[in-house]
Amino acid sequence: MTKTFMARIAAVAGGLLLSFAALAAGGGDLQQAGTDLNDRASLQRGAQLYMNYCAGCHSLKYLRYSRMADDLGLTEDEVMNHLNLTGAKFGEHIVSSMPAEQAAKWFGQVPPDLSLITRVRGSDWVYTYMKSFYLDDTRPLGWNNTLFPNASMPNPLWKQQGLQHAVFGESDPATGDTLVEHLEVSTPGTQSAAEFDQTVRDLTAFLEYAGEPAALKRQGIGVWVILFLSFLTLLAWLLKNEYWRDVH
Ligand code: HEC
Repeated sequence: MTKTFMARIAAVAGGLLLSFAALAAGGGDLQQAGTDLNDRASLQRGAQLYMNYCAGCHSLKYLRYSRMADDLGLTEDEVMNHLNLTGAKFGEHIVSSMPAEQAAKWFGQVPPDLSLITRVRGSDWVYTYMKSFYLDDTRPLGWNNTLFPNASMPNPLWKQQGLQHAVFGESDPATGDTLVEHLEVSTPGTQSAAEFDQTVRDLTAFLEYAGEPAALKRQGIGVWVILFLSFLTLLAWLLKNEYWRDVH
């Protein structure tokens, strides 16, 4: 009885380990996003980048412009004059103005809503994805991506990053395809490698925020909850002393 039980536990543990290993292998080498949701300037820069380079194709359908303004410390004027490029009202959701059918025709895929992207894929994945585009003549739009092979999205930040090309290594024994060994910037962009890392970090931080806008407020509330609970503990302790004085 116990033996089979132990064997089962061992099997489950082994299975878990295997699936973790598979996950790690499937994800490729992810780079650390290093985002900081307490860094408001980073979130503001991320919002600006998102509106300029992503919002044309992707939506954040659960987030309203007004909510974003409130959370990131932006005025209605700043949002409506500099960030909202779609003509939507201040209280409306951040929805791309690109018609889905057109998008499907142009890209072969409808650009997905990015509301939950950092929760589904993880921040490190999004960060690495944005840095992994390279030129590839064999793709319809001329771009490929090492993390998401044959992604049908062109690199929106090529001006900042510069043009990357692939340096190929050995071929895959299973498929015979030549494998990308690493990527190299062949034509420099307007930003240095470190500056571009920060750009992608800001963008990832903004998407992380957009995935859970309440997280910003919750962190602020947490401090008050702890203070309140400490106060309550003190009160209970004083009360206990008060009762026990009569008993002794
Ligand atoms: C020209 C249109 C276009 C622009 C601009 C664009 N994307 Fe995309 N994006 C796409 C399409 C199309 C896909 C679907 C790719 C696929 O599934 O092959 C996609 C996919 C993605 C994915 C992967 C989603 C998944 O399947 O998990 C992420 C992340 C992403 N985009 C982020 C961004 C960010 C961040 C920006 C702005 C810096 C941006 N995109 C700008 C068209 C665009």
